[in-house]
Amino acid sequence: MDYPIIVAGREIFTEKKQTVFDKYSREAIASVSIAGEKEVEEALDKAYKTRKTLAEIPAHKRAEFIFKAVDIIKSKREYIGKLIAREAGKPIKYALGEVDRCIENLTYAGEEAKRIHGETFPVDASKAGENRYGFFERFPIGVVVAISPFNFPLNLAAHKVGPAIAAGCPVILKPAGLTPLSGIELIKAFVEASVPEGSVSVLAGSGSTVGEMLIRDKRVSKISFTGSREVGEHITKTAGLKKVTMELGSNSAVVVDNEIYDIDYAVKRCVLGAYYNQGQVCISVQRIYVHKDIFKDFLVKFVEETRKQVIGNPLDEKTDVGPMISEAEAIRVESWINEAKENGAEILTGGKRDGVIYLPTVITNANDSMRIVKDELFAPAVVIMPVDSFEEGVERADNSEYGLQAGVFTKNVNRAMYAFKNINVGGVMINDIPSFRVDHMPYGGNKGSGLGREGARFAIEDMTVLKAAIFNFNG
Ligand code: SIN
Repeated sequence: MDYPIIVAGREIFTEKKQTVFDKYSREAIASVSIAGEKEVEEALDKAYKTRKTLAEIPAHKRAEFIFKAVDIIKSKREYIGKLIAREAGKPIKYALGEVDRCIENLTYAGEEAKRIHGETFPVDASKAGENRYGFFERFPIGVVVAISPFNFPLNLAAHKVGPAIAAGCPVILKPAGLTPLSGIELIKAFVEASVPEGSVSVLAGSGSTVGEMLIRDKRVSKISFTGSREVGEHITKTAGLKKVTMELGSNSAVVVDNEIYDIDYAVKRCVLGAYYNQGQVCISVQRIYVHKDIFKDFLVKFVEETRKQVIGNPLDEKTDVGPMISEAEAIRVESWINEAKENGAEILTGGKRDGVIYLPTVITNANDSMRIVKDELFAPAVVIMPVDSFEEGVERADNSEYGLQAGVFTKNVNRAMYAFKNINVGGVMINDIPSFRVDHMPYGGNKGSGLGREGARFAIEDMTVLKAAIFNFNG
Protein backbone atom coordinates (compact mmCIF):
# COMPACT_ATOMS: atom_id res chain seq x y z
CA MET A 1 0.00 0.00 0.00
CA ASP A 2 1.28 3.48 -0.93
CA TYR A 3 0.99 6.22 1.67
CA PRO A 4 1.43 9.89 0.76
CA ILE A 5 2.68 12.69 2.91
CA ILE A 6 0.21 15.55 3.34
CA VAL A 7 1.49 19.04 2.65
CA ALA A 8 -0.87 21.84 3.65
CA GLY A 9 -3.86 19.54 3.23
CA ARG A 10 -2.76 18.08 -0.11
CA GLU A 11 -1.68 14.46 -0.54
CA ILE A 12 1.71 14.22 -2.22
CA PHE A 13 3.57 11.16 -3.45
CA THR A 14 7.28 11.86 -3.58
CA GLU A 15 9.96 9.89 -5.38
CA LYS A 16 11.81 8.95 -2.23
CA LYS A 17 10.00 6.24 -0.27
CA GLN A 18 10.35 4.43 2.99
CA THR A 19 9.08 0.91 3.72
CA VAL A 20 7.10 0.36 6.90
CA PHE A 21 7.32 -3.15 8.34
CA ASP A 22 5.02 -5.26 10.49
CA LYS A 23 7.11 -5.38 13.67
CA TYR A 24 6.19 -9.00 14.40
CA SER A 25 6.12 -10.75 11.00
CA ARG A 26 8.62 -8.29 9.50
CA GLU A 27 6.53 -8.18 6.31
CA ALA A 28 6.51 -4.91 4.40
CA ILE A 29 3.09 -3.32 4.99
CA ALA A 30 3.38 0.04 3.28
CA SER A 31 5.55 2.28 1.24
CA VAL A 32 5.48 5.85 2.50
CA SER A 33 6.55 8.97 0.66
CA ILE A 34 9.34 10.90 2.32
CA ALA A 35 9.35 14.67 2.61
CA GLY A 36 12.37 16.54 1.34
CA GLU A 37 13.34 20.20 1.77
CA LYS A 38 10.83 21.34 -0.85
CA GLU A 39 7.85 19.77 0.91
CA VAL A 40 8.95 20.99 4.35
CA GLU A 41 9.31 24.52 3.00
CA GLU A 42 5.86 24.39 1.40
CA ALA A 43 4.25 23.09 4.59
CA LEU A 44 5.90 25.85 6.63
CA ASP A 45 5.05 28.57 4.14
CA LYS A 46 1.39 27.59 3.89
CA ALA A 47 1.02 27.02 7.62
CA TYR A 48 2.46 30.47 8.29
CA LYS A 49 0.15 32.10 5.74
CA THR A 50 -2.87 30.27 7.16
CA ARG A 51 -2.31 31.26 10.77
CA LYS A 52 -4.47 34.38 10.61
CA THR A 53 -7.31 32.66 8.73
CA LEU A 54 -7.41 29.87 11.27
CA ALA A 55 -7.17 32.25 14.21
CA GLU A 56 -10.25 34.10 12.98
CA ILE A 57 -12.43 31.02 12.66
CA PRO A 58 -14.93 31.03 15.53
CA ALA A 59 -14.51 28.54 18.35
CA HIS A 60 -17.66 26.53 17.52
CA LYS A 61 -16.40 25.98 13.95
CA ARG A 62 -12.95 24.89 15.13
CA ALA A 63 -14.73 22.47 17.46
CA GLU A 64 -16.80 21.19 14.52
CA PHE A 65 -13.66 20.42 12.49
CA ILE A 66 -12.41 18.33 15.37
CA PHE A 67 -15.73 16.53 15.90
CA LYS A 68 -15.85 15.69 12.19
CA ALA A 69 -12.32 14.28 12.37
CA VAL A 70 -13.49 12.22 15.36
CA ASP A 71 -16.37 10.76 13.31
CA ILE A 72 -13.96 9.81 10.53
CA ILE A 73 -11.60 8.09 12.96
CA LYS A 74 -14.56 6.29 14.58
CA SER A 75 -15.63 4.95 11.20
CA LYS A 76 -12.10 3.55 10.66
CA ARG A 77 -11.61 2.19 14.20
CA GLU A 78 -10.83 -1.40 13.22
CA TYR A 79 -8.64 -0.42 10.29
CA ILE A 80 -6.53 2.04 12.29
CA GLY A 81 -6.34 -0.36 15.25
CA LYS A 82 -4.87 -3.02 12.99
CA LEU A 83 -2.49 -0.50 11.48
CA ILE A 84 -1.17 0.39 14.96
CA ALA A 85 -0.88 -3.29 15.86
CA ARG A 86 1.22 -3.92 12.77
CA GLU A 87 3.36 -0.78 12.52
CA ALA A 88 4.05 -0.52 16.27
CA GLY A 89 3.78 -4.22 17.25
CA LYS A 90 1.13 -3.27 19.82
CA PRO A 91 -1.23 -6.12 20.83
CA ILE A 92 -4.56 -5.53 19.13
CA LYS A 93 -6.56 -5.13 22.35
CA TYR A 94 -4.30 -2.23 23.33
CA ALA A 95 -4.14 -0.88 19.76
CA LEU A 96 -7.95 -0.64 19.63
CA GLY A 97 -7.82 0.91 23.10
CA GLU A 98 -5.49 3.53 21.66
CA VAL A 99 -7.97 4.37 18.90
CA ASP A 100 -10.72 4.70 21.51
CA ARG A 101 -8.53 6.97 23.60
CA CYS A 102 -7.78 9.07 20.53
CA ILE A 103 -11.51 9.48 19.88
CA GLU A 104 -12.10 10.61 23.46
CA ASN A 105 -8.98 12.74 23.51
CA LEU A 106 -9.93 14.64 20.33
CA THR A 107 -13.47 15.05 21.64
CA TYR A 108 -12.04 16.83 24.71
CA ALA A 109 -9.99 19.05 22.40
CA GLY A 110 -13.16 19.97 20.48
CA GLU A 111 -14.98 20.73 23.72
CA GLU A 112 -12.07 22.76 25.07
CA ALA A 113 -12.03 24.86 21.88
CA LYS A 114 -15.21 26.41 23.29
CA ARG A 115 -13.69 27.15 26.69
CA ILE A 116 -10.68 29.32 25.89
CA HIS A 117 -11.30 32.06 28.40
CA GLY A 118 -9.85 35.41 29.30
CA GLU A 119 -10.18 37.18 32.64
CA THR A 120 -10.61 40.67 34.00
CA PHE A 121 -8.11 41.95 36.50
CA PRO A 122 -8.18 44.84 39.00
CA VAL A 123 -5.84 47.37 37.40
CA ASP A 124 -6.44 49.72 40.34
CA ALA A 125 -4.65 47.34 42.70
CA SER A 126 -1.84 49.69 41.78
CA LYS A 127 -2.12 53.44 42.44
CA ALA A 128 -0.98 53.95 38.85
CA GLY A 129 -3.98 51.93 37.68
CA GLU A 130 -6.78 54.04 39.17
CA ASN A 131 -9.74 54.61 36.83
CA ARG A 132 -8.59 51.93 34.47
CA TYR A 133 -10.26 48.69 33.41
CA GLY A 134 -8.22 45.66 32.40
CA PHE A 135 -8.71 42.22 30.97
CA PHE A 136 -6.71 39.62 29.11
CA GLU A 137 -7.55 37.06 26.46
CA ARG A 138 -5.81 34.09 24.91
CA PHE A 139 -4.69 34.22 21.27
CA PRO A 140 -3.34 31.36 19.14
CA ILE A 141 0.43 31.25 19.33
CA GLY A 142 0.99 30.58 15.60
CA VAL A 143 2.48 27.61 13.78
CA VAL A 144 2.86 24.48 15.93
CA VAL A 145 5.29 21.68 15.13
CA ALA A 146 4.26 18.32 16.59
CA ILE A 147 6.83 15.54 16.84
CA SER A 148 5.36 12.25 17.98
CA PRO A 149 6.87 8.93 19.13
CA PHE A 150 6.42 5.30 18.04
CA ASN A 151 4.83 3.96 21.22
CA PHE A 152 1.39 5.61 20.84
CA PRO A 153 1.65 6.67 17.21
CA LEU A 154 -1.97 7.81 16.97
CA ASN A 155 -2.95 9.13 20.37
CA LEU A 156 0.23 11.01 21.22
CA ALA A 157 0.01 12.74 17.82
CA ALA A 158 -3.65 13.53 18.60
CA HIS A 159 -2.50 15.09 21.90
CA LYS A 160 -0.77 17.74 19.82
CA VAL A 161 -2.86 18.08 16.67
CA GLY A 162 -6.26 18.29 18.44
CA PRO A 163 -5.30 21.12 20.82
CA ALA A 164 -3.53 23.00 18.00
CA ILE A 165 -6.69 23.11 15.87
CA ALA A 166 -8.78 23.85 18.98
CA ALA A 167 -6.51 26.81 19.76
CA GLY A 168 -6.57 28.04 16.14
CA CYS A 169 -2.98 27.13 15.28
CA PRO A 170 -1.80 25.49 12.02
CA VAL A 171 0.08 22.30 12.82
CA ILE A 172 2.78 20.28 11.08
CA LEU A 173 3.16 16.72 12.34
CA LYS A 174 6.38 14.77 12.06
CA PRO A 175 5.53 11.19 13.03
CA ALA A 176 8.12 8.70 14.27
CA GLY A 177 10.14 7.12 11.48
CA LEU A 178 9.18 3.54 12.37
CA THR A 179 5.44 4.24 12.73
CA PRO A 180 4.29 6.99 10.35
CA LEU A 181 1.02 5.41 9.17
CA SER A 182 -1.33 6.21 12.05
CA GLY A 183 -0.18 9.83 12.08
CA ILE A 184 -0.97 10.07 8.37
CA GLU A 185 -4.45 8.64 9.06
CA LEU A 186 -4.94 11.25 11.78
CA ILE A 187 -4.07 14.15 9.51
CA LYS A 188 -6.17 12.66 6.67
CA ALA A 189 -9.17 12.81 9.02
CA PHE A 190 -8.60 16.55 9.60
CA VAL A 191 -8.27 17.16 5.86
CA GLU A 192 -11.54 15.28 5.27
CA ALA A 193 -13.07 17.41 8.01
CA SER A 194 -12.34 20.41 5.72
CA VAL A 195 -9.94 22.41 7.86
CA PRO A 196 -8.66 25.42 5.86
CA GLU A 197 -5.85 24.67 3.43
CA GLY A 198 -2.50 25.09 5.17
CA SER A 199 -3.84 24.13 8.61
CA VAL A 200 -2.48 20.59 8.69
CA SER A 201 0.50 18.75 7.26
CA VAL A 202 2.14 15.43 8.03
CA LEU A 203 5.71 14.98 6.93
CA ALA A 204 7.24 11.55 7.17
CA GLY A 205 10.99 11.79 6.83
CA SER A 206 14.30 11.93 8.57
CA GLY A 207 15.08 13.82 11.74
CA SER A 208 18.11 15.36 10.11
CA THR A 209 16.14 16.93 7.23
CA VAL A 210 12.50 17.27 8.24
CA GLY A 211 13.01 17.51 12.00
CA GLU A 212 15.92 19.94 11.86
CA MET A 213 14.22 22.24 9.35
CA LEU A 214 11.05 22.35 11.42
CA ILE A 215 12.64 23.03 14.78
CA ARG A 216 14.97 25.74 13.45
CA ASP A 217 12.46 27.67 11.36
CA LYS A 218 11.53 31.14 12.62
CA ARG A 219 7.96 30.86 11.32
CA VAL A 220 7.33 28.18 13.96
CA SER A 221 6.17 29.48 17.35
CA LYS A 222 5.74 26.29 19.32
CA ILE A 223 7.20 22.79 19.34
CA SER A 224 5.43 19.95 21.09
CA PHE A 225 7.66 16.90 21.34
CA THR A 226 7.24 13.45 22.84
CA GLY A 227 10.27 11.19 22.78
CA SER A 228 13.68 10.63 24.27
CA ARG A 229 15.38 12.96 26.69
CA GLU A 230 18.41 13.24 24.43
CA VAL A 231 16.37 14.46 21.45
CA GLY A 232 14.23 16.66 23.71
CA GLU A 233 17.33 18.42 25.02
CA HIS A 234 18.62 18.91 21.49
CA ILE A 235 15.32 20.44 20.38
CA THR A 236 15.15 22.71 23.43
CA LYS A 237 18.67 24.00 22.78
CA THR A 238 18.09 24.44 19.05
CA ALA A 239 14.61 25.95 19.14
CA GLY A 240 15.68 29.43 20.23
CA LEU A 241 12.79 31.62 21.36
CA LYS A 242 10.03 29.14 20.67
CA LYS A 243 7.72 27.76 23.29
CA VAL A 244 8.38 24.06 23.87
CA THR A 245 6.47 21.23 25.47
CA MET A 246 8.66 18.24 26.18
CA GLU A 247 7.17 14.88 27.12
CA LEU A 248 10.25 12.80 27.84
CA GLY A 249 11.02 9.52 29.52
CA SER A 250 10.99 8.15 33.02
CA ASN A 251 11.85 5.18 35.23
CA SER A 252 8.50 5.25 37.00
CA ALA A 253 8.20 3.78 40.46
CA VAL A 254 5.51 2.21 42.62
CA VAL A 255 5.64 2.12 46.42
CA VAL A 256 3.70 -0.68 48.11
CA ASP A 257 2.93 -0.19 51.79
CA ASN A 258 2.43 -3.02 54.33
CA GLU A 259 -1.11 -1.70 54.86
CA ILE A 260 -2.89 -2.09 51.53
CA TYR A 261 -6.46 -2.99 50.60
CA ASP A 262 -5.80 -5.94 48.31
CA ILE A 263 -2.41 -7.35 47.44
CA ASP A 264 -3.78 -9.33 44.47
CA TYR A 265 -5.25 -6.18 42.95
CA ALA A 266 -1.95 -4.31 43.46
CA VAL A 267 -0.01 -7.15 41.83
CA LYS A 268 -2.39 -7.34 38.84
CA ARG A 269 -2.22 -3.59 38.25
CA CYS A 270 1.59 -3.59 38.51
CA VAL A 271 1.88 -6.51 36.10
CA LEU A 272 -0.27 -4.65 33.58
CA GLY A 273 1.77 -1.46 34.06
CA ALA A 274 5.06 -3.32 33.63
CA TYR A 275 4.28 -5.23 30.44
CA TYR A 276 1.60 -3.53 28.34
CA ASN A 277 2.99 -2.28 25.05
CA GLN A 278 6.11 -4.28 25.95
CA GLY A 279 6.95 -1.71 28.63
CA GLN A 280 7.58 0.85 25.92
CA VAL A 281 5.56 3.48 27.74
CA CYS A 282 7.01 6.55 29.46
CA ILE A 283 4.97 5.72 32.56
CA SER A 284 5.43 1.97 32.54
CA VAL A 285 6.15 0.36 35.92
CA GLN A 286 9.93 -0.06 36.09
CA ARG A 287 10.72 0.03 39.83
CA ILE A 288 8.61 -1.38 42.66
CA TYR A 289 9.55 -0.71 46.28
CA VAL A 290 7.63 -3.12 48.52
CA HIS A 291 7.43 -2.95 52.31
CA LYS A 292 9.53 -5.79 53.76
CA ASP A 293 6.51 -7.27 55.64
CA ILE A 294 4.78 -8.24 52.40
CA PHE A 295 7.75 -8.33 50.02
CA LYS A 296 7.96 -12.14 49.63
CA ASP A 297 4.24 -12.57 49.15
CA PHE A 298 4.14 -9.76 46.59
CA LEU A 299 7.12 -11.17 44.71
CA VAL A 300 5.74 -14.71 44.49
CA LYS A 301 2.36 -13.45 43.24
CA PHE A 302 4.04 -11.11 40.78
CA VAL A 303 6.11 -13.90 39.23
CA GLU A 304 3.00 -16.11 39.01
CA GLU A 305 1.04 -13.39 37.20
CA THR A 306 3.98 -12.61 34.92
CA ARG A 307 4.11 -16.21 33.79
CA LYS A 308 0.47 -15.94 32.67
CA GLN A 309 1.27 -13.22 30.12
CA VAL A 310 0.48 -14.45 26.62
CA ILE A 311 3.32 -13.71 24.23
CA GLY A 312 2.91 -13.65 20.48
CA ASN A 313 1.42 -12.04 17.42
CA PRO A 314 -0.07 -8.60 18.18
CA LEU A 315 -2.94 -9.37 15.82
CA ASP A 316 -4.10 -12.20 18.08
CA GLU A 317 -6.72 -10.95 20.55
CA LYS A 318 -5.24 -13.09 23.34
CA THR A 319 -1.76 -11.58 23.08
CA ASP A 320 -0.54 -9.51 26.03
CA VAL A 321 3.06 -9.00 24.99
CA GLY A 322 4.30 -8.64 21.43
CA PRO A 323 7.56 -7.60 19.77
CA MET A 324 9.65 -4.64 20.74
CA ILE A 325 9.80 -1.86 18.21
CA SER A 326 13.03 -3.25 16.71
CA GLU A 327 15.53 -5.99 17.24
CA ALA A 328 18.13 -3.36 18.10
CA GLU A 329 15.96 -2.27 21.02
CA ALA A 330 15.52 -5.88 22.20
CA ILE A 331 19.31 -6.31 22.04
CA ARG A 332 19.85 -3.12 24.05
CA VAL A 333 17.48 -4.37 26.76
CA GLU A 334 19.20 -7.74 26.79
CA SER A 335 22.56 -6.07 27.35
CA TRP A 336 21.30 -3.85 30.18
CA ILE A 337 19.74 -6.82 31.96
CA ASN A 338 22.79 -9.01 31.43
CA GLU A 339 24.96 -6.26 32.86
CA ALA A 340 22.74 -6.11 35.98
CA LYS A 341 22.93 -9.91 36.28
CA GLU A 342 26.72 -9.78 36.17
CA ASN A 343 26.56 -7.28 39.02
CA GLY A 344 24.42 -9.45 41.27
CA ALA A 345 20.82 -8.87 40.15
CA GLU A 346 18.63 -11.98 40.15
CA ILE A 347 16.21 -12.84 37.34
CA LEU A 348 13.14 -14.63 38.68
CA THR A 349 11.44 -15.16 35.35
CA GLY A 350 12.07 -14.11 31.75
CA GLY A 351 15.46 -12.53 31.19
CA LYS A 352 15.65 -13.85 27.64
CA ARG A 353 15.38 -12.48 24.15
CA ASP A 354 13.86 -14.32 21.20
CA GLY A 355 14.62 -12.17 18.16
CA VAL A 356 12.55 -9.04 18.51
CA ILE A 357 10.67 -10.33 21.57
CA TYR A 358 11.96 -9.77 25.08
CA LEU A 359 10.22 -12.02 27.58
CA PRO A 360 8.37 -10.41 30.51
CA THR A 361 11.02 -10.25 33.19
CA VAL A 362 11.06 -9.90 36.97
CA ILE A 363 14.32 -8.81 38.55
CA THR A 364 15.27 -8.59 42.21
CA ASN A 365 18.47 -8.07 44.24
CA ALA A 366 19.18 -5.00 42.16
CA ASN A 367 20.42 -1.71 43.49
CA ASP A 368 19.55 1.87 42.67
CA SER A 369 22.82 2.55 40.86
CA MET A 370 22.21 -0.08 38.16
CA ARG A 371 21.15 1.10 34.69
CA ILE A 372 18.00 -1.03 34.82
CA VAL A 373 16.95 1.02 37.86
CA LYS A 374 18.27 4.54 37.34
CA ASP A 375 17.86 4.93 33.56
CA GLU A 376 14.75 4.51 31.45
CA LEU A 377 14.57 0.80 30.62
CA PHE A 378 11.56 1.03 28.26
CA ALA A 379 11.09 -2.74 28.19
CA PRO A 380 8.84 -5.49 29.53
CA ALA A 381 10.96 -5.84 32.65
CA VAL A 382 10.50 -4.71 36.22
CA VAL A 383 12.75 -4.46 39.26
CA ILE A 384 11.19 -5.30 42.64
CA MET A 385 13.02 -4.24 45.80
CA PRO A 386 12.21 -4.49 49.53
CA VAL A 387 12.11 -1.38 51.75
CA ASP A 388 12.01 -1.05 55.53
CA SER A 389 9.26 1.55 55.55
CA PHE A 390 6.80 3.35 53.28
CA GLU A 391 8.83 6.54 53.76
CA GLU A 392 11.98 4.81 52.53
CA GLY A 393 10.02 3.68 49.45
CA VAL A 394 8.92 7.26 48.80
CA GLU A 395 12.46 8.55 49.15
CA ARG A 396 13.82 5.96 46.72
CA ALA A 397 10.98 6.50 44.26
CA ASP A 398 11.84 10.20 44.29
CA ASN A 399 15.57 9.55 43.95
CA SER A 400 15.62 9.75 40.17
CA GLU A 401 16.71 12.12 37.45
CA TYR A 402 13.21 11.68 36.07
CA GLY A 403 9.83 12.73 37.41
CA LEU A 404 6.84 11.81 35.26
CA GLN A 405 4.36 9.81 37.37
CA ALA A 406 4.48 7.54 40.41
CA GLY A 407 2.07 5.09 42.03
CA VAL A 408 1.55 4.18 45.68
CA PHE A 409 -0.56 1.48 47.23
CA THR A 410 -1.59 2.24 50.81
CA LYS A 411 -4.71 2.28 52.97
CA ASN A 412 -3.27 5.08 55.05
CA VAL A 413 -4.40 8.49 53.82
CA ASN A 414 -1.60 10.30 55.65
CA ARG A 415 0.99 8.16 53.90
CA ALA A 416 -0.76 8.75 50.56
CA MET A 417 -0.51 12.51 51.14
CA TYR A 418 3.11 12.12 52.24
CA ALA A 419 3.87 10.45 48.90
CA PHE A 420 1.93 13.09 46.99
CA LYS A 421 3.98 15.85 48.60
CA ASN A 422 7.36 14.18 48.53
CA ILE A 423 7.72 12.55 45.12
CA ASN A 424 8.70 15.17 42.59
CA VAL A 425 6.64 14.05 39.60
CA GLY A 426 3.82 15.36 37.42
CA GLY A 427 1.26 12.99 38.97
CA VAL A 428 0.93 10.54 41.86
CA MET A 429 -1.59 7.74 41.42
CA ILE A 430 -2.88 6.58 44.78
CA ASN A 431 -3.81 2.90 44.95
CA ASP A 432 -2.84 2.64 41.34
CA ILE A 433 0.12 2.44 38.99
CA PRO A 434 2.02 5.37 37.43
CA SER A 435 0.82 4.10 34.07
CA PHE A 436 -2.72 5.33 34.73
CA ARG A 437 -3.70 8.16 32.42
CA VAL A 438 -6.97 9.60 31.23
CA ASP A 439 -6.43 11.97 28.37
CA HIS A 440 -7.95 15.13 29.81
CA MET A 441 -5.80 15.17 32.95
CA PRO A 442 -2.67 17.34 33.17
CA TYR A 443 0.09 15.01 32.04
CA GLY A 444 3.78 15.74 31.93
CA GLY A 445 6.94 15.51 33.90
CA ASN A 446 9.39 17.34 36.11
CA LYS A 447 13.20 17.17 36.13
CA GLY A 448 14.51 15.03 33.22
CA SER A 449 10.96 14.03 32.24
CA GLY A 450 10.22 17.28 30.54
CA LEU A 451 8.53 20.64 30.45
CA GLY A 452 4.87 21.61 30.24
CA ARG A 453 1.71 19.55 30.42
CA GLU A 454 -0.57 17.85 27.91
CA GLY A 455 -4.28 17.09 28.15
CA ALA A 456 -6.43 19.29 25.90
CA ARG A 457 -6.98 22.17 28.33
CA PHE A 458 -3.32 22.39 29.33
CA ALA A 459 -1.95 21.89 25.82
CA ILE A 460 -4.24 24.66 24.56
CA GLU A 461 -2.92 26.96 27.30
CA ASP A 462 0.57 26.28 25.95
CA MET A 463 -0.52 26.89 22.36
CA THR A 464 -2.00 30.28 23.15
CA VAL A 465 -0.50 33.53 24.40
CA LEU A 466 -2.06 36.03 26.78
CA LYS A 467 -2.72 39.55 25.58
CA ALA A 468 -3.84 42.26 27.99
CA ALA A 469 -6.02 45.31 27.26
CA ILE A 470 -6.31 48.29 29.60
CA PHE A 471 -8.90 51.04 29.17
CA ASN A 472 -7.97 54.42 30.65
CA PHE A 473 -10.96 56.49 31.91
CA ASN A 474 -8.90 59.35 33.33
CA GLY A 475 -8.92 61.67 30.33
C1 SIN B 1 3.69 8.04 27.11
O1 SIN B 1 4.31 6.99 26.87
O2 SIN B 1 4.23 9.11 27.38
C2 SIN B 1 2.20 8.09 27.03
C3 SIN B 1 1.50 7.17 27.90
C4 SIN B 1 0.01 7.22 27.70
O3 SIN B 1 -0.51 8.12 27.02
O4 SIN B 1 -0.69 6.37 28.25
